[in-house]
Amino acid sequence: MNVLDFKACKNRAEKIVMLTCYDYTSARIVQDSEVDVILVGDSAAMVMHGHGTTIPADVDMICRHIESVGRGTSDKFIIGDLPFLSFRQSLADTLRAVDRVMKAGAHAVKLEGIEGNEDTIAHLVKSGVPVMGHLGLTPQSVNQLGGYKVQGRDDNAVEILKQQALSCEQAGCFALVLECVPGPLAAVITDLLQIPTIGIGAGQHTDGQVLVMQDLLGLSADFKPKFVRRYLNGRQLWLDAFNSYANDVKGGRFPAESESYK
Ligand code: KIV
Repeated sequence: MNVLDFKACKNRAEKIVMLTCYDYTSARIVQDSEVDVILVGDSAAMVMHGHGTTIPADVDMICRHIESVGRGTSDKFIIGDLPFLSFRQSLADTLRAVDRVMKAGAHAVKLEGIEGNEDTIAHLVKSGVPVMGHLGLTPQSVNQLGGYKVQGRDDNAVEILKQQALSCEQAGCFALVLECVPGPLAAVITDLLQIPTIGIGAGQHTDGQVLVMQDLLGLSADFKPKFVRRYLNGRQLWLDAFNSYANDVKGGRFPAESESYK
C-alpha cells in the first residue's frame, strides 16, 4: 500500500482496512495480517496512557509510538496523527511537528478539521507530505462539540459537512476519515469525492473502515459505542490467562520440571 493506492482502491471499489496500533508487539501481528493501513492515532492518549480524552497527546507521545510500530512492520502504510493544536500554531511550528512525525517513521499525517487548516494542508502536500483529513466527530474538539456526539444531524450541518469534505479534497488530502456521521450522509460524501472516505461510526458506504485496536479486541470493560464490533472477548481471555498463571504459581504447578534449568 502506498499513497497512490488509496484512490486506486476507491476506483476499483476495494475497501480499505485501517486499524490503530501503537506498540511493537501488536505491530508485528498487524504486519502479518490483511490490514492495509496502520493509524498511530492520538487515541493512544486514551487507550495506552489512560487519559479521558485525546487532548493530552503530544508530538513526543505520537513519535514514540510511531517508532515502536515502525520497528514491528516492514511494508505497512503508517499514518501518524497530528496531536491537539500541534498544527494550529505558526506554519514553522507545524512543519517542525510534521518533520518529527515523518522522521519517526510515518508515511503520512492525519489532522482533524478543515476550517483554518486549508493552507496548512496545501503547504504540507506541496512539501511532499501526504495528508489524511478527519471530519465529523473530531475528538480534539470535544470541548467545542459539547461531547462525543453524532455529527451532521440537521440540514445545515449536512451542508457544512459536505462543503468541508470538498475543501479537504481541494486542499490536497489523499483520503478522509468520517467519524460518527449518519450512514446516508457518509454515503453522499463518499460519492461526492474522488478521494476515499474511511469511516468510523459512519455506516457501510464509506470506501474503508477504521477501528481502534483495543475496541476490536474487546480489551476494555468500558461503554461500547454502537459502531464498535468486538472481534474477540480479549479482556476475558487476558483475565483468564492472568488468573490461570496466578493459580498455577500459588498451587505450585508453575514452573514445571520441563520449564526449569537442570
Ligand atoms: O486517534 C484515532 O484513533 C483516530 C481514529 C478514531 C480515526 O483518529
